[in-house]
Amino acid sequence: MARVVLENVSKFFGSVQAVKSINLEIKDKEFMVFVGPSGCGKTTTLRMIAGLEEVSDGRIFINEKQINDVPPKDRNIAMVFQSYALYPHMNVYDNMAFGLKLRGKKKKEIDERVAHAGEILELTELLDRLPKQLSGGQRQRVALGRAIVRDPAVFLMDEPLSNLDAKLRVQMRAQLQKIHKTLQTTVVYVTHDQVEAMTLGSRIAVILNGELQQVDAPLVVYEKPINRFVAGFIGSPPMNFIKGELHRTNGTYSFESEGFKLDIPEDLNQYLASYQDKEVVFGIRPEDIWDVPSSAWIDKRCVLDAKVEFRELMGSETNLYVKAGSNSLIVRVNSLNDAAAGSKFTIVINLRKIHLFDPATQKAII
Ligand SMILES: Nc1ncnc2c1ncn2[C@@H]1O[C@H](COP(=O)(O)OP(=O)(O)O)[C@@H](O)[C@H]1O
Ligand SMILES: [Mg+2]
Repeated sequence: MARVVLENVSKFFGSVQAVKSINLEIKDKEFMVFVGPSGCGKTTTLRMIAGLEEVSDGRIFINEKQINDVPPKDRNIAMVFQSYALYPHMNVYDNMAFGLKLRGKKKKEIDERVAHAGEILELTELLDRLPKQLSGGQRQRVALGRAIVRDPAVFLMDEPLSNLDAKLRVQMRAQLQKIHKTLQTTVVYVTHDQVEAMTLGSRIAVILNGELQQVDAPLVVYEKPINRFVAGFIGSPPMNFIKGELHRTNGTYSFESEGFKLDIPEDLNQYLASYQDKEVVFGIRPEDIWDVPSSAWIDKRCVLDAKVEFRELMGSETNLYVKAGSNSLIVRVNSLNDAAAGSKFTIVINLRKIHLFDPATQKAII
């Protein structure tokens, strides 16, 4: 059982504020992912929860108990880092058992805990091996095992998969989900990789410049980003943004930019009144722009003329880089679409999936 609460938590390194008054509740058994660009304060926040970094301002609680002054070893947490730092001269069993031995646990209990962790991590056959006799993925599993044997209330993980190649990372992501399901323990996981955040998190906390931007379930962050930064950071290829103006004719609002005009569904009118005749930023994800054949079922749509600049084959899908007027857009279509570079191309915008942002505050309007 562990609920972690951050209350107005800040961190200063000299005059630099790396973490800015973060308020966040991490629920019991939750898999919370901190995601954001390099240097945004993810590791620093995690290290404050671990007790490896002093909190400059604010309070951290684990299960209602304020832990600002509790030493790391008494916080009942285990941390897993990017570099697995195994003891090279110890076999897998001893690497996992080491921390327990230091804590004076009995041989029988150590055996049981290592066997249990070995089973969860599929390391049972490898307990006698030295780290140099293991693959990268196996080594990272041993590092996880060292944390699991301690049976902590909270796992803190700082980019634990970054050293693995792409294929192994995908495998380990699936394994981490399984482990979390088995152990039912609170996890706080740091990554700069938005795909990792989306696939692993029960909720994700998006951080920019030390400030928490949005905390929500992955799909909510994806579909309802709170501001332009979150909209652009989550999703690949990123959301398309177009600068333009909002106008109103006969009760219908339309977004207009050079060579690009679309009417906005009237059920959204309630959000738009204060933006009439003002500048706004329009946003649409590449998969929400369609080619004509695949758009048959969209009930609310807008058709525009564009021109293909180049194609990027991804496999079953292709990213088309198109131009509509002076605006560049990325469109994700089925690879069967053979629109060639230089050809005219009609795009269909799914009006159910449009976003508008306030250019001054960067906040989402719809
Ligand atoms: N020990 C330190 N001394 C001074 N500045 C630091 C220290 N640790 C981190 N920082 C700064 O704090 C900011 C946040 O760093 P960090 O939490 O490591 O970011 P992230 O993990 O998101 O990449 C960065 O600007 C970094 O340079
Ligand atoms: Mg970091």
